[in-house]
Amino acid sequence: FNVPAIKNEPVKSYLPGSPERIELKKALEEARSKVIEIPQYIGSKEIFSQNKHAISPPHDHQHVLGYFHEGTQEDVKEAVHAALEARESWASMSWEQRASIFLKAAELIAGPYRAEINAATMLGQSKNAYQAEIDSACELIDFLRLNVNFMKDIYEQQPESSDGVWNRMEYRPLEGFVFAITPFNFTAIAGNLPAAPALMGNVVLWKPAFTQVYSAHVIMKVFKKAGLPDGVINMILADGPVAGEIIFKHADFAGIHFTGSTKVFQTIWKTIGENIPVYKSFPRIVGETGGKDFVLAHQSADAKAVATGLIRGAFEYQGQKCSAASRAYIPSNLWEEVKELMIKDLAEIKMGGVEDFSNFVNAVIDEKSFDKITTYIENAKEDATTEIIAGGNYDKSKGYFVEPTIIRAFQPDYVTLCEEIFGPVLTVYVYEEDKFEEIIPVIDSTSPYALTGAVFATDRYAIQYATEHLVNSAGNFYINDKPTGAVVGQQPFGGARASGTNDKAGSVLNLLRWISPRAIKETL
Ligand code: SER
Repeated sequence: FNVPAIKNEPVKSYLPGSPERIELKKALEEARSKVIEIPQYIGSKEIFSQNKHAISPPHDHQHVLGYFHEGTQEDVKEAVHAALEARESWASMSWEQRASIFLKAAELIAGPYRAEINAATMLGQSKNAYQAEIDSACELIDFLRLNVNFMKDIYEQQPESSDGVWNRMEYRPLEGFVFAITPFNFTAIAGNLPAAPALMGNVVLWKPAFTQVYSAHVIMKVFKKAGLPDGVINMILADGPVAGEIIFKHADFAGIHFTGSTKVFQTIWKTIGENIPVYKSFPRIVGETGGKDFVLAHQSADAKAVATGLIRGAFEYQGQKCSAASRAYIPSNLWEEVKELMIKDLAEIKMGGVEDFSNFVNAVIDEKSFDKITTYIENAKEDATTEIIAGGNYDKSKGYFVEPTIIRAFQPDYVTLCEEIFGPVLTVYVYEEDKFEEIIPVIDSTSPYALTGAVFATDRYAIQYATEHLVNSAGNFYINDKPTGAVVGQQPFGGARASGTNDKAGSVLNLLRWISPRAIKETL
């Protein structure tokens, strides 16, 4: 087995005057000056419909970037047909040929499509240049390249043989098609969820979030350009229940690769359960869902590291990361200093559109999300058991802007310490500095999620204690770092409990779910 040497894609800096900044500015201007029509990609066809929806930047909702063409149940049926028609030749294509297509896609994003996909993520999802670069460029490239390494690791696993017997494992794809449902908040996840099963030889129906279609379209163009055969990944733009009605009742439904809300994932799981007798095989169910990610500081922690970790962990990309730090447990001896440092940092942070690269905070994804987040903020303002430490303002006249907001809650079970908000809201609970051991069960029990979490301490016993006693509270655990920004191949990502099936995106563990191996014994 021989694959090209692979390492993580270096993050470009976009410093003023740098070639990448000039190119990205040009791509942004170009995207803003035209109106594009985004079709569904089904088999060899691009399907345009009468049912068009405008796409606007969340930070400038009156500007129209283009339209996407919504699909129907007939289109979903056609996509299933196209996928199944492509299945046999794709499944029997050698792994090197499949790998080459995805490695080529990574090269295209690293080079000629980098500015276009970053611009699309910036405008369509209101991600600033730096957040777009680490997502739609580096993380997506890393998934595409490193998955090839993980695939090789799997294929290399072969059983022992004995005298007169040759045993081998054949790593077949699933029998049927995989359904990928992807979220708005990471372009990389949107690309990886269809690409990972496809790399392993599966055919896929991919339904991106309607709020991410603008960059999803670029991914699809890149896959096509890289030589992905028609029908292997079909991008459908039907509403969830419309697509689900066909897909979850189909005998050849073989697996779901999902990132989204816990509630939707629960509904999907139930639907799959109800339809079990219909399917040829037990479908693979892989999902990454919500989080209520914690930062726990010990009295020995460095206050500056805690404050920086919180500002970055809670407010980068407006807190719209399932990994975002949304609750912090700070010891009483550190609170005043951490508070002052956070307030000072926030005073320097600018909020606005992505076109101005100095804006750290941009808009939240849409009006529904804006209304949900601001309701939590308003309720906190009125609650006698909380105090607004910073922010608390918002405005949706031009874009969906919510100021980074820090709430101090005096009750450890206050709602914003327990529920996922998915916005720039951090809730702090200050505990007595000598009650470190007592606060740990509170962290573990007040939220149903277990995605990411961080401990800040210089005392090794405290680090060891937190690591051991928060063992089930986070699938990704960080020591003296913010709980966001997992790097493919370095921190395989995913959580358990209400946060998902913990099949670790960006690792062998995820790819193992997309194969149905055959063990062959030959008597010689
Ligand atoms: N992988 C992202 C992070 O770690 C979240 O999806 O922040």
